[in-house]
Amino acid sequence: MSKLLRIDSSARTADSVSRQLSDRLISRIAPDADVTVRNLADGIPLLSESTLGAMWTPEADRTDAQNAELADANIAIQELFDADTIVIGLPIYNFGPPAALKAWADLVARAGTTFQYTPTGPEGLIPNKPVYVIVTSGGVPVGSPMDLSSTWLTTFLGFLGLTDVTVIAADQLNVDPEGALTAAKGRVDAVQLAAA
Ligand SMILES: Cc1cc2nc3c(=O)[nH]c(=O)nc-3n(C[C@H](O)[C@H](O)[C@H](O)COP(=O)(O)O)c2cc1C
Repeated sequence: MSKLLRIDSSARTADSVSRQLSDRLISRIAPDADVTVRNLADGIPLLSESTLGAMWTPEADRTDAQNAELADANIAIQELFDADTIVIGLPIYNFGPPAALKAWADLVARAGTTFQYTPTGPEGLIPNKPVYVIVTSGGVPVGSPMDLSSTWLTTFLGFLGLTDVTVIAADQLNVDPEGALTAAKGRVDAVQLAAA
C-alpha cells in the first residue's frame, strides 16, 4: 500500500479551505493510501539552544537527554523519508507560511540527515517524490510577488531534495469566495486527471 504524508498547517479545522481541498485531493489521487497526518495545529516544538546543540552533536555522541530532545524531530523527519507522496496545506498568513509550518521546517532541516554540504553546494537527502502544496489566501494571488509562502516552501522542499512539487492555488478566497473555491476545486480535480 502506498504511503501518503499529509501536513496541515491551518489553525482552523472545519472551516479550513486547505484542509477541505487536501481531503478532496487525497480522495482523488490516493484513496487507498496509508495516510499519516501531521497536524501542525496540534503544536510543534520551537527550536531552542539545546535542540540545536543536540542536532549538531554527532548521533553516536548524543546523550540520552539530547536524544529525547530530538525525538519529535526524528519522527517528523522519518515521516518525510517514509512517504511515497506528500500533501501540504499552506495558508498564507501575513505574507508567509503559518508559524507552525516554519517551526516544522526548522525541525526537519538537519545537516547530515535531510541535507548535506558538498564541494558543489548543498544537496538534499530525502528521496524525491511527488509533493502537492495547496496554497490558500484571502487576497494575495498565488504566484504574485506578494506570495512569499509558495516561494519559501518550494525552495525549502527543494533544499531537502523534494523538487517534484505541484502548487495548487486556492487564492483570493475573500475576493470572490464562491468563484475562488470553485476554481480551486477545478485545479484539484485537474491534478487527479493528470495523474490518472
Ligand atoms: C492570521 C492570518 C493571517 C492571514 N494573512 C493573510 C495574508 O497575508 N494574505 C492573504 O491573502 N490572506 C491572509 N489570510 C487569509 C488566509 O490565507 C485565508 O483565510 C485562507 O483561507 C486560510 O487557509 P485555511 O482556509 O485553510 O484556514 C490570513 C488569515 C489569517 C488567519
